[in-house]
Amino acid sequence: MAANKKLLMLPGDGIGPEVMGEVRRVIEWMDCRRHVSFDVIDDLVGGTAYDAHGTSLTDETLAKAMSVDAVLLGAVGGPKWDNVERQHRPEAGLLKLRKEMDLFANLRPATVIPALANASSLKEHIVSGLDMMFVRELTGGAYFSKPKLIEDLPGGGQRAVDTQVYSTAEIDRVCRVAFELAGKRVGKLHSVEKANVMETGVLWRAVATAVGEDYPEIELLHMYADNCAMQLVREPKQFDVIVTDNLFGDILSDCAAMLTGSLGMLPSASLGAADESGRRKALYEPVHGSAPDIAGEKKANPLAMLLSCAMMLRYSFDMAEDADLIEQAVANVLGQGLRTDDIMQDGMTAVSTDQMGEAVTDELDKLAA
Ligand code: IPM
Ligand code: MG
Repeated sequence: MAANKKLLMLPGDGIGPEVMGEVRRVIEWMDCRRHVSFDVIDDLVGGTAYDAHGTSLTDETLAKAMSVDAVLLGAVGGPKWDNVERQHRPEAGLLKLRKEMDLFANLRPATVIPALANASSLKEHIVSGLDMMFVRELTGGAYFSKPKLIEDLPGGGQRAVDTQVYSTAEIDRVCRVAFELAGKRVGKLHSVEKANVMETGVLWRAVATAVGEDYPEIELLHMYADNCAMQLVREPKQFDVIVTDNLFGDILSDCAAMLTGSLGMLPSASLGAADESGRRKALYEPVHGSAPDIAGEKKANPLAMLLSCAMMLRYSFDMAEDADLIEQAVANVLGQGLRTDDIMQDGMTAVSTDQMGEAVTDELDKLAA
């Protein structure tokens, strides 16, 4: 049997611990039923880390994240920490993890599961069968570029500055991830920026075009970000893979997420550069937030977290078959009509977070029988 895979679980805040609990259930199932073993360590991130240590990510936790094969993160944030200084805010811990681990490529699939095609706020025929993937640049742009400040003005009032910087190398590496992915899918890539207004957009377009020369078999299309927002709600199925910067990716991926019916369904993978052996540092987290309003009530939808675990199996451990199993189990339980609150519809069966998780492992039992 291969060496155990080392996982760091960072459940975080709000509903994070509840949804992570369901991943533990699936990991245990895999330990018993599949030819794989995981060594799981646990730690704090976000507001819970701040409460315990006065900072949302300690150096010790970061060192653990750097040493494991993959990190699974639940969610961070909540009103309780709204007045904490910015550098210690829950979000700062997550941003520091992304930056320090150099997780520059954020993969966010937006897939409409057949059983949920009528749960979208868009008409069913617009979204049914949708299967697209965002590749969001995650360690540069407006999130991290300096200067970034608020300062007092001599005559009164203040001035705030955010900066957007992108280098050729930063654009090149994230575009390569996107082209590679496009090659494994239908061979079509949209590169999204605002080259009509922003210098970073001009460079982005030039670099995407240059990288495209190494991938002649991929159809590369350029689109302005505002048009992309419009096209996502007009005709989302024209897209397969979209590569874009950090800020546009944040906004557009939320928009795409909603096409699928619920933010509670969407996983993500954040990947670093491949080392000599082809391994990448990686963090997997659901796209949804910490939903403090329902935390502790067992109402949260654990499926995005479970699908993030499936992405981990696929991208960090090359366990496509096991990833497929989890994805199929999720589709099956939805097909049976089980629904958490966020995706509840007439005639369906309401279930709690743990009932949903149990249903998934029951389904895994059947699929693997
Ligand atoms: C996301 C979130 C984060 C972001 C927040 C929590 C800092 O919205 O992962 O999309 O803006 O990147
Ligand atoms: Mg976001």
